[in-house]
Amino acid sequence: MSARIPIAGPWITEKEISYVTRAVRDGWYDNASKYQAEFEQAFATFAGRRYGISLPSCTSGLHLALLALDIGPGDEVVVPDVTWIATSAPISYVGATPVFADVDPTSWCITAASIEAVLTPRTKAVIVVDLYGNMPDLDPILALCRERSIAVIEDAAEAAGATYKGRPAGSFGAFSAFSFHGSKTLTTGEGGMLLVDDEAAHRRCLKLRDHGRAPGDRMFWNDEIGQK
Ligand SMILES: Cc1ncc(COP(=O)(O)O)c(C=O)c1O
Repeated sequence: MSARIPIAGPWITEKEISYVTRAVRDGWYDNASKYQAEFEQAFATFAGRRYGISLPSCTSGLHLALLALDIGPGDEVVVPDVTWIATSAPISYVGATPVFADVDPTSWCITAASIEAVLTPRTKAVIVVDLYGNMPDLDPILALCRERSIAVIEDAAEAAGATYKGRPAGSFGAFSAFSFHGSKTLTTGEGGMLLVDDEAAHRRCLKLRDHGRAPGDRMFWNDEIGQK
């Protein structure tokens, strides 16, 4: 039997080992979220965004984005018909309906024409996927969605480091979500990050992530159920 060729694997140098060692040694008490905050800021800057929200997975990032956009029962969200199921599963978590659009045979990404073909008055959002780091032709997609007041979420799970017309993957639409699973181009073993530019949307996501507790609250005052 011929040897298997892995599609991905981590490149761990002394630098990564020293970072992890430092965090294990002093990432406690007042420093408890120090490395997380540094990573959020550095990653947001890398992808051309204002805010980063670190999460256990990209799936939870997509879920959080849909919640923050107030998408729920009766709403439709367009997704490509070629992707990993985690792009569309969070649409069902919030009670909305996924609607599948064709992908382009060359890029394997959704297109403005394929999105337009499945739009209805109930379409609230489109999740574009940068499949295998291939980028969709985003300019016409963003123009179409802007014209119809449809939110765009970029599923950049597989695309850390990719670019579209010189702009980084993760910088498009209202939100973008990345995966740091071991099979991805940048990994923490498991993990994810939601990126956003809008300050109010950022605060909303922080609150939902923290079980309905507003950022800055010190009294464990949870006035709604968070990410559910
Ligand atoms: C396109 C796409 N979306 C979403 C995900 C979900 O990522 P995670 O496993 O971090 O939730 C993946 C990961 O496999 C993916 O490839």
